[in-house]
Amino acid sequence: MKSLHEKRNKYGTIFTQSFFGATSILAGGQDDLNWIFNNDRKALTEVAWPPNIVMLLGPGAVANQTGKYHRVLRRLLEPYFAPRFVTNYLKCMDETTSDELESWCEAGEFHSSEVFKMYALRLFYVSAFGNVDEEMIASLHDDFKQWLGGFMSLTTKQIPGTSFAEAMKARDRILDTVDVLIDKFMSENPEDSERAQITIMGRLIYGKDKDDNRVMTRDEMKDNILNLIFAGHDTTYASISTLLYHLSENKDAMDALASEVSTLSDPLTADELRNAPVLNACIHESWRCDPPVAGSFRKAVKELQHKGYSFGAGSVFNYSILMATTDEKLYKSHEKFEMRRFLPKDHPLYSSDIDSGIDPFQGRSSYPIFGGGTHVCLGKAFAQLELRVLAARLLKGYKVEVRNPEKVYFPVNGWNIEFKLTKRKSM
Ligand code: HEM
Repeated sequence: MKSLHEKRNKYGTIFTQSFFGATSILAGGQDDLNWIFNNDRKALTEVAWPPNIVMLLGPGAVANQTGKYHRVLRRLLEPYFAPRFVTNYLKCMDETTSDELESWCEAGEFHSSEVFKMYALRLFYVSAFGNVDEEMIASLHDDFKQWLGGFMSLTTKQIPGTSFAEAMKARDRILDTVDVLIDKFMSENPEDSERAQITIMGRLIYGKDKDDNRVMTRDEMKDNILNLIFAGHDTTYASISTLLYHLSENKDAMDALASEVSTLSDPLTADELRNAPVLNACIHESWRCDPPVAGSFRKAVKELQHKGYSFGAGSVFNYSILMATTDEKLYKSHEKFEMRRFLPKDHPLYSSDIDSGIDPFQGRSSYPIFGGGTHVCLGKAFAQLELRVLAARLLKGYKVEVRNPEKVYFPVNGWNIEFKLTKRKSM
């Protein structure tokens, strides 16, 4: 982090770096991000995941696609992740979250933030399938951990015993589990059933293109289910853990949030959650301080010019979300958690001194937490809802103690913590 700021001060917002043994161009100014995202839309750049990640995700995964087929996949999936549509998942998210909080509290002890990984998987599972199968979740969770171990690998050689070889074996097991899940879903939920219409799984299995043809083969379905689980797993875990860390360090924000969520309806409603100013300001500020995905990669399809530089075809760009969200010109005292940056002007805690003037809901290059261009996060609304539900439910019912925070940078950026819940007496 320090070196990122040092390099920005020395070279500006665009410079070369060595990352995982390969040279790429790090870019993090607003104009640089806009340039990269526009190139994406004009098909002048394409995704450039390191080879180990390409293999772990699989050839059918949406994150590995470019061009026409990528557009077809996005068109198929986007409606099921649209802000209005994800509110279908609110009821099951709320119930799952309430049960989970109850069990963490009942234990009466500190838990590692690792538990949020299983929770993220359960939330995705329940939204994707419409029910929970504990045995399947446990098996996916174990294999998933091993699969993620392959993300740090510098090689794609599957030498027995290496983390990459183990990760690829875990990938095969996950795909076998997903195969069983697809069969089960299809036998229990025919194409015209309600669940086939309102669940992510129904969309993946039965989705058709404009010519009424099924969009995905079985193998593509499996790769995309894995892609969706992956994309929301560690990012959700890091978001929760980091939010709790910042709240524990900023008691004023924690108290303001607890007070606000105590007034929300029970069960929670999507409109109230979306319009709760402190809740959203705290979440946005936590993501700003520690964006779970620090950046991503693009490759030039042909020679490109930017800021007087010429980049040959094949040049790899690492666009930096972290550099954008820690730009002192955009965010005064950027190193400080200050949720008031994002409060609306009519809120009693609003302060013009710290107002960022940036609307984080827009997701522009001044607040690119979910990336941009053609590969902008598909699960943005889903992730926002998950975090709102968790934070609202947690602070409505519990007090939280946090200890042993530890900064982590990879595979996701944020904080690991230990936390303990105690029931809140009614406020
Ligand atoms: C706070 C949580 C999350 C953050 C910060 C986040 C961030 C991102 C970012 C930065 C990208 C762009 C990568 C790129 O430019 O190459 C991305 C892509 C993606 N995200 Fe998320 N994400 C989150 C949660 C989720 C969830 C919950 C899901 C699904 C349930 C999801 C699904 C995806 C998918 C499928 C892509 C690839 C899209 C494509 O390549 O077309 N994400 N995410």
